[in-house]
Amino acid sequence: MSNNTILLGVNVDHSATLRQARYKDDPESTLAEPSVLQFALLSESAGADGITMHLREDRRHVQSADIESVKASMKTRLNLEMACTEEMTEYALKLQPDSVCLVPEKREEVTTEGGLDIIKNYERVAEVIKAMKSVGIATSLFIDPDREQIKAAAELGAPWIELHTGAFSNQYALGDWQKEWGILKSGAELADSLGLVVNAGHGINYDNIKQVKQLPYLNELNIGHSIVSQSLFLGVEVAVKNMLSLMRE
Ligand code: PXP
Repeated sequence: MSNNTILLGVNVDHSATLRQARYKDDPESTLAEPSVLQFALLSESAGADGITMHLREDRRHVQSADIESVKASMKTRLNLEMACTEEMTEYALKLQPDSVCLVPEKREEVTTEGGLDIIKNYERVAEVIKAMKSVGIATSLFIDPDREQIKAAAELGAPWIELHTGAFSNQYALGDWQKEWGILKSGAELADSLGLVVNAGHGINYDNIKQVKQLPYLNELNIGHSIVSQSLFLGVEVAVKNMLSLMRE
């Protein structure tokens, strides 16, 4: 797989975070804003290739009603981020998103920190991949760029991985990113050599994208927080378009 146009999945979770800050007791009220659906549709009209939403166990941002309304009106692809629990597996089988991305989930986390340990959760991950495959849903595994995790993803027969770019992004902000970049790059090369489609995400912003987009074999980036933040100043469509042009220039 070679580097063609890098696709953009916009993670709209934090538009829901803003709504929940005021309307967590009644997120479906007619007063509740901002609209997660509108955020997703504007992202699409600005050129996003897909929308990503994470239904967390504690429902701290996106609600199932948000996911269902986005799915009903969207034109691109819905990627559902989820923990590999039975509850979420049943939910995904019913919802039928285009893909699921298995992520770790701990209640105390503000956002996803660290990739899913698919070696430790091997059997459970295998069950979810099989269940999704049986109804034509592709499974992506959000993992650290660790060689053993990448090999396990290939062994599990996952079609896609999403490499966790958080450690790289943190180091990029400190100006000391070469080591983390080397790990990410060799992870992407290994994944491609094992036949995995390579996506990446977490902590990507309008600054570090200059480097991230040089990751070999990159298929898609999932970007949330930075796009939602820029939307406050520029509007959703300009924020998404600006990211797309940085990714593709
Ligand atoms: N990819 C995954 C698997 C995530 O869980 C998240 C959200 O934490 C993202 C991408 C987007 O990360 P960010 O909001 O930092 O852009």
